[in-house]
Amino acid sequence: MSEPRQILVTSALPYANGSIHLGHMLEYIQTDMWVRFQKLRGNQCIYVCADDAHGSAIMLRAEKEGITPEQLIANVQAEHSGDFADFLVDFDNFHSTHSDENRELSSLIYGRLRDAGHIATRSVTQYFDPEKGMFLADRFIKGTCPKCAAEDQYGDNCEKCGATYAPTELKNPKSAISGATPVLRDSQHFFFKLPDFQAMLQQWTRSGTLQDAVANKLAEWLDSGLQEWDISRDAPYFGFEIPGEPGKYFYVWLDAPIGYMASFKNLCARRPELDFDAFWNEGSKAELYHFIGKDIVNFHALFWPAMLEGAGFRKPTAVNVHGYLTVNGAKMSKSRGTFIKARTYLDHLQPEYLRYYYAAKLGRGVDDLDLNLEDFVQKVNSDLVGKVVNIASRCAGFIHKGNAGVMVAGDAAPELTEAFLAAAPSIAEAYEGRDFGRAMREIMALADRANAWIADKAPWSLAKQEGKQDEVQAICAQGINLFRQLVIFLKPVLPLLAADAEAFLNVAPLTWNDHQSRLENHQLNPFKALMSRIEPAKVEAMVAASKEDLLAAEAQAPAGNGELTKDPLSAEIEFDTFAAVDLRVALIVKAEAVPGADKLLQLTLDIGDERRNVFSGIKSAYPDPSKLEGRLTMMVANLKPRKMRFGVSEGMVMAAGPGGEEIYLLSPDSGAKPGQRIK
Ligand code: MSP
Ligand code: ZN
Repeated sequence: MSEPRQILVTSALPYANGSIHLGHMLEYIQTDMWVRFQKLRGNQCIYVCADDAHGSAIMLRAEKEGITPEQLIANVQAEHSGDFADFLVDFDNFHSTHSDENRELSSLIYGRLRDAGHIATRSVTQYFDPEKGMFLADRFIKGTCPKCAAEDQYGDNCEKCGATYAPTELKNPKSAISGATPVLRDSQHFFFKLPDFQAMLQQWTRSGTLQDAVANKLAEWLDSGLQEWDISRDAPYFGFEIPGEPGKYFYVWLDAPIGYMASFKNLCARRPELDFDAFWNEGSKAELYHFIGKDIVNFHALFWPAMLEGAGFRKPTAVNVHGYLTVNGAKMSKSRGTFIKARTYLDHLQPEYLRYYYAAKLGRGVDDLDLNLEDFVQKVNSDLVGKVVNIASRCAGFIHKGNAGVMVAGDAAPELTEAFLAAAPSIAEAYEGRDFGRAMREIMALADRANAWIADKAPWSLAKQEGKQDEVQAICAQGINLFRQLVIFLKPVLPLLAADAEAFLNVAPLTWNDHQSRLENHQLNPFKALMSRIEPAKVEAMVAASKEDLLAAEAQAPAGNGELTKDPLSAEIEFDTFAAVDLRVALIVKAEAVPGADKLLQLTLDIGDERRNVFSGIKSAYPDPSKLEGRLTMMVANLKPRKMRFGVSEGMVMAAGPGGEEIYLLSPDSGAKPGQRIK
């Protein structure tokens, strides 16, 4: 046997200003399953998390509720901990970024970065709310769009016409907090000199630490050059004051990832066998994994490794990124009742149903994952109840009735025993690589074989015949042994089912290697139903209850800390935003390859009153671009012109398909004229 590995695992720290929903749960369940797998294999694996308690959103929400931020974060911490525990997410520690450990580590890291010359200071001019006495993040400024004159737009972009601008360009700006007219004010800010780490990051992001899709995305950022990162905020702010800089606070995202270390440090105080330095010092042999969603990649794969390197700590072994959860094929929606809070789910359904469904659909990639509620009911009922639990319930009764609950010795189906043993390494490999979907498919294929074998042997018919009792006992003992192996393979996903099965099997907690042994001459405990089917009515009730949550949720502050850009693909838009898109019929006048660009075509488009130059990444599907000349397509005509390496692109043509040769340029029915608007 090889040495047990030392592994430290984290999930992103949820903001302490909102409830956990099923989108968050995708991450915590994914991480928990991986951690449980490692523990089952006998590795030392520690899973830490915390609430992300700082930032102006939390300060303002506490104010609105008339409580202190400390009270708010204590309330939320209790709520979050309960949600996670009930979803069987088994943290070794769930701490808070507003903690002594985090304060100490944040000043230590900041101090080391400063002493090594990685901190710069300079003056920044920003809007300031004179009534509230605070600087305003872009999201807290509203005014009239400088482009289209739409009123009540946020400080960084217009929802009406899509223009982006600096808050100082807004006409008639107002503070969204007090309504006062903001004034410009200068203030000293602290910057982390990220460009100092360009070479290290270029290498680190390509060293197997990231999924390919993530590494490619980062390469784009790295190639366009890194910017210094503003890590300070002025008082009033809820966070840690920067040591030696009264009135200046660390920006929430500076101390948030340090919260991973702080949570671990807090755990070390309770678990003397854990050595903080052995996990975090440069050259550490322990492995360190962060599980995160695709929206926070830059913080974890650029800023964080650079901070660690600059402060003399080890860098992550890997950052594992997952996609976003959709429900019934669309972004979670409050009005459709698919914005489902963790607690609302738990009020109606068992946690393991969702854990299994997520496992069945999770791969190694960053694709979004859809929770289709019909498919959810169907899949869980057919796989877990119909296949896995079914084996035990078919066999247990005969052993209790015919042999006082004692499993006889002997192997009634050596070929199946062999197949189950042979499948284990591949299932383990799938778990290790976070390909839970593959692991579940392989396990269910084994369950199918076991069921088919039992159905073929039909112990229920044999039991009615004279002199077949030995055969019945041999078949059922084999069935229970196969069931036991399936339970071991599923234990990272279904820990409660496993615990109930262990009680029925009358065995100590099962570990991964136990799949190599079998139970013989073994006394079973009475069999109780291990899992019941999902009733579709329960799912409907959960959706209805989520619609009721809507009113309560609407009164709350928006999720997030209000300073981050949200993933544009998952954002729901108002009709007006859609109507602001100028879609036109366009005639492709000219189409040619772009020298030096392997994906791009340069298109000249006629849209009636003018001609546009558009670069489009469709070359892989149209190797002979001249064939496109003379055909009609559709374009977005009011997209902000984009400066590219080869020239300015003045709009976008519309195409469908996954990419490569499968790109299909859209075209209107014949009769459409260039320049006509699409409505
Ligand atoms: N507080 C920051 C993380 C700091 S880590 C040092 C944050 N918090 S969050 O509450 O907004 O999100 C926590 C995690 O949940 C993130 O990894 C995020 O990607 C994930 N998810 C939030 N909504 C999600 C979905 N709808 N689907 C999948 N994951 C989602 O970001
Ligand atoms: Zn506008």
